[in-house]
Parts: sequence; structure tokens; C-alpha cells
Amino acid sequence: MPHVVTQACCGDASCVYACPVNCIHPTPEEPGFGTSEMLYIDPSTCVDCGACVSACPVGAIVPGHRLTDDQAPFADLNAAQFDSTGDGAASFPVDPARRLPLAPIDKPRRLAVDGPLSVGIVGSGPSAMYAADELLRHPQVTVTVYERLRRPFGLARYGVAPDHLATRSVMRLFDDIARNPRCDIRLGTTIGRDLTLDDLRGRHQAVIWAGGAPTDRRLVIDNASAPGVLSATELVGWYNDHPDHDNLQVDLSSSRAVVIGNGNVALDVARILTADPEGLTDTTISRHALRALRTSAIEEVVVLGRRGPVHAAFTLPELIGLDTNANIVVDPADVPDSGDTAVIDPTTSAKLDLLAEIAARPARPGRRIRFVFHRSPSAISVDPGGHADGVVVAHNVVSGTDGIEPTGVTETIDAGLVLTSIGYRGVPVPGLPFDDTRGVIPHDAGRVLDHDGPIPGMYVTGWIKRGPSGFIGTNKTDSAETVAALLTDFEGGMLSGHETPPRRRLLSRLG
Ligand SMILES: Cc1cc2nc3c(=O)[nH]c(=O)nc-3n(C[C@H](O)[C@H](O)[C@H](O)COP(=O)(O)OP(=O)(O)OC[C@H]3O[C@@H](n4cnc5c(N)ncnc54)[C@H](O)[C@@H]3O)c2cc1C
Ligand SMILES: NC(=O)c1ccc[n+]([C@@H]2O[C@H](COP(=O)([O-])OP(=O)(O)OC[C@H]3O[C@@H](n4cnc5c(N)ncnc54)[C@H](OP(=O)(O)O)[C@@H]3O)[C@@H](O)[C@H]2O)c1
Ligand code: SF4
Ligand code: SF4
Repeated sequence: MPHVVTQACCGDASCVYACPVNCIHPTPEEPGFGTSEMLYIDPSTCVDCGACVSACPVGAIVPGHRLTDDQAPFADLNAAQFDSTGDGAASFPVDPARRLPLAPIDKPRRLAVDGPLSVGIVGSGPSAMYAADELLRHPQVTVTVYERLRRPFGLARYGVAPDHLATRSVMRLFDDIARNPRCDIRLGTTIGRDLTLDDLRGRHQAVIWAGGAPTDRRLVIDNASAPGVLSATELVGWYNDHPDHDNLQVDLSSSRAVVIGNGNVALDVARILTADPEGLTDTTISRHALRALRTSAIEEVVVLGRRGPVHAAFTLPELIGLDTNANIVVDPADVPDSGDTAVIDPTTSAKLDLLAEIAARPARPGRRIRFVFHRSPSAISVDPGGHADGVVVAHNVVSGTDGIEPTGVTETIDAGLVLTSIGYRGVPVPGLPFDDTRGVIPHDAGRVLDHDGPIPGMYVTGWIKRGPSGFIGTNKTDSAETVAALLTDFEGGMLSGHETPPRRRLLSRLG
């Protein structure tokens, strides 16, 4: 039975290079890579050699005969991407040429110049660690990673949900990268406070800013900052032991919470709030969150989308995973038939089919997650004490291909806890240009750009480069692009010398 890629896939494509028969798609060279929700194994060409299993940093690839019940739907999902026998809607129509054993060999190019290259990287999240990995392939390169927190790896530690243990295991890969003797990691060092950017530019020939998009997008509606309204950033930090959110007060005393936005973060938050706390004891959830969840009165979490299911921001693998772990409720009237909708790519079509299947099920008792579509938040309603007691929502219809138009109907959804989960946003870095509209640092292939062109020796990668979207693995290709530009500049003699070589620090500071 062929191997199967499952929910934990974060799209870094390591498996692609391990597979001797090139049956894992899309590859980084193919259309769809970078936007695909995961990678898939073509069951008709997989020869069951198992090489991809050990290449995968998050244990997402499972031999078909070892799939658990929760993972079983992923066998069909993988196969469906290649099945062009039916309606011709396969994501990766099979090209016989691709069946050749042509997996590219992932060999670093040899640099055209000798001499040492010292690079400073700000941040230790996935984009920073993938950039470090890419640089450290070259023996003349040393890397110093500067991280403001006392524990490394950014959102891989403080974002990824505590019950997604396979995904969190990507930190083992980052740990390996950090243990390279030519990699120095300085924790508890904030650039802009403990050291300036100019300090770094004096120490290193090149600096890569990989500081991520640390704030949430703000919802601008009445009472949006009332007690009882929190951002997903805060709640995620609270349940993931982020030191900035240890003391967050989370009011779980009412029977309903509303999550505004329906991306993957909203699904994480809704799942944790409705999970059986006993099932969370073997996860990495913070002790304070577990204690609070044990006495939670929440019975229902409403996940609010301003558009319909066709445009829902959550991905199919996450919906499949949620469906096996939570009690989801969907109004059948909200789900269009996948056959009736003009839009439709195979992934969206499969998403609609699964939502329709969920909607058709009889309601189950117990804590539930209710998907509500076509509703925009227009205000937070508050009780006489000023605490949030609901969300006023305006009903919408979809207009054009992806816009919305209010129908004029409004209603209030009662809730004592309201979470905004409408995406993240980068913040300006003193001394660097900033695109305030997109919340990113402007760049050309990773070279930071100001009005006069590239700033010599200054690079950017990750969420602060491309905006807050994509999976952990997306940062690998993103950082590869930035590092390629940096090395080209090094070879072109455009990176000046530096004052002092970086000092080594004890790896025991890694947590
Ligand atoms: C809640 C949540 C859950 C997610 N779950 C998944 C998942 O399950 N699977 C998946 O594939 N993807 C997931 N993602 C997406 C994934 O986490 C991101 O793609 C990835 O973390 C972005 O990497 P980054 O390096 O750009 O930023 P980050 O991971 O945010 O890293 C930035 C780092 O820079 C540090 N930093 C910032 N400023 C400074 C400074 N001035 N000085 C020193 N250090 C600084 C920060 O402390 C941080 O450690 C999730 C995202 C979120 C928000
Ligand atoms: N397990 C995983 O793989 C995983 C887990 C977590 C996060 N991630 C990734 O991390 C990235 C960030 O995720 P995210 O969930 O924060 O962001 P996201 O996917 O961009 O979703 C944001 C949601 O907020 C809605 N929204 C935005 N502005 C709004 C407003 N003013 N009013 C109401 N709704 C509004 C969006 O609706 P519209 O679509 O209508 O704009 C969308 O539903 C994503 O790429 C995600 O896939 C992955
Ligand atoms: S088991 Fe072997 S042939 Fe199948 S996808 Fe993995 S590496 Fe490729
Ligand atoms: S996480 Fe990476 S190696 Fe694992 S299945 Fe996904 S793309 Fe392949």
C-alpha cells in the first residue's frame, strides 16, 4: 500500500528530494507549490521504499497500512490529486515524463570566492532557521542568530497548537541546525534594545531580518477593546506559554465564545477551547491554560466567516483534522453544492463536499464548534458593566467573485468571550524601510529596498518579507531565495568586511 502524506505536512518539500521516483507533488519547480495546502503522494507511482518518511521533519508521511482512523481520509485526499480519470479535475495531471526517477539532487553550489562570510540573523523562527541552514551548507559561512525570547524557534514553539505535536516536532530539525558549530544562537537579545541594527551591521558582513509579523490585525468596530474581547495572538500565546501572555485573564465563564475570522488560527483556537481538557494533558499546553479549561463553561464556539464556505480561509487538511477531533455544526443552507459552483478547484470542491457531509449529520451532544458564514462583525455588544456580551453581525451576500455586500439584516450572537482572529501584521523596524499598507519590509528577492535601491548587506525573509501567510515549510523556499541573493552579492564582492568574528555561546541555553 502506498505511502500517504497526512495533516501535519508543512510543505517544506524535503520529501520531494528524497523520493527516488518523483511521486510527491507539487515539487518546488511545479506550478502550485507555495499555494498548495500540502504535498501529496501519487499512489500509482509510489514504490513504497520509505525514503520520504525519514526525510520529513514532522513525521507527516505514513505507510498506507499504518494509517490511524484519524489519518485514513488522507489516503483518498492524496489519491484525488492525481485522479484525472473522472472529471479531469486532478490537481496534478500525470505527465508520463514525471514518472522517471528524476528527483533532483539537493547539492549546494560551490561559492566562486573564498574567504569567511559572517551573517547575523534577527529572529529564530522557521524563516531564520531555514536561512541559517541554507547558509551553513557553505563551510566558510558563520551565522549568529539573535532572538529576543529566552526560548527559540518563534511560532513553531509559540504559535503551532499544543495538540499538533507532529508539527511542533519540526523544532528538532531547528535544534539540529542550531547545534552546527558554525551557528551561534543568542537568546534573550532584542535587536533595537540590547543591540542596534547598526551594531549588527558592524559585526557581520550581512544581516537578515527574520523578525516575523508579531502583532495581530486590529478589528476596527465599536467596543473592540472591551473586557472579554481578546486577540487570537493573545490566546494562542496564553495556551502556548509565551512569556508575554502568561498573565492573560481569559474569561471562560459564559457558555459561548465567538471567534471572528475563519483561518487556520481560528480553527486552532476553537479546537482548544472545545477540547476535552483531559485529552490535552499529554500535549504541550501551558499549565495555566489547562487549569482554566478544566473549569470552563464554554459549550459552543462560533467561528464567524464574513464570506461563504467557498472562500473560507481554513485549509482542507485542517478541516479534515478538525472533523476527526471535534464536534462541528454547519447549517446545510450555507453550503453550496460543489457541482453548482462555478469557481471550483479540486481542493475547494473537496472542502465543500466535507462541509456538506458534516451539515447533513444529526447534531451530537457535547461541546461543539459552529461554523457561521456570510456574517460581518459590526460591533461588540456590552453589558451595563462594559463587558462584552455578544457580537453584532451584519448578514452578507457574496458579490462579484470574492466581495461581500450587506443585506441590511443584522443580529446579535450572544457570547461572553470574543476572539479576533483576522490575521497577523508586521511592525516597522527602526532603521529599515516599511510598506505600511502590507505590513512588510520592501525587498527584491530578499534584498531590502529603500528609495535608492537595495541597502548593501541588508536582507529580509519570512512573514516580514512576504506577509503573514503560508506554512512552516513555505519559509524554506522563501529563505532559499534570500540566501541565494546574499551569496550572489558575496560572490560579487558587494559585502564589506566586519569588525569582530562572532563569539560562540553555550548551546545549553537552547530550551
Ligand atoms: C497561531 C499560529 C499557528 C500556526 N500553526 C502552524 C502549523 O500548525 N503548521 C504550519 O505549517 N504553520 C503554522 N503557522 C505558520 C508558521 O508558524 C509561520 O509560517 C512561521 O512561523 C513564520 O516564520 P517567521 O520566521 O517569519 O516568523 P516567527 O515564527 O514569528 O519568528 C520570528 C522570530 O523573531 C523574533 N524577533 C522578532 N523581533 C525581534 C527582535 N527585534 N530581536 C530579536 N528577535 C526578534 C521573535 O521573537 C520570533 O522568535 C502558524 C502560525 C500561527 C500564527
Ligand atoms: N495548521 C496549519 O497549517 C496552520 C495553523 C495556523 C496558521 N497557519 C497559517 O498561518 C497563516 C495565518 O493564519 P490566520 O488564520 O491568522 O490568517 P488567514 O488565513 O489570513 O485568515 C484570516 C481570516 O480573517 C478574516 N478577516 C480578515 N479581516 C477581517 C475583518 N475585518 N472582519 C472579519 N473577518 C476578517 C479573513 O476573511 P476573508 O478571507 O474574507 O478576508 C479570514 O477568514 C495562514 O497562512 C495559515 O494557513 C497554518
Ligand atoms: S515511499 Fe518511496 S516511492 Fe513512495 S513517496 Fe516515499 S520516497 Fe517516494
Ligand atoms: S512536511 Fe515536508 S517532508 Fe513532510 S510531507 Fe510535507 S513537504 Fe514532505
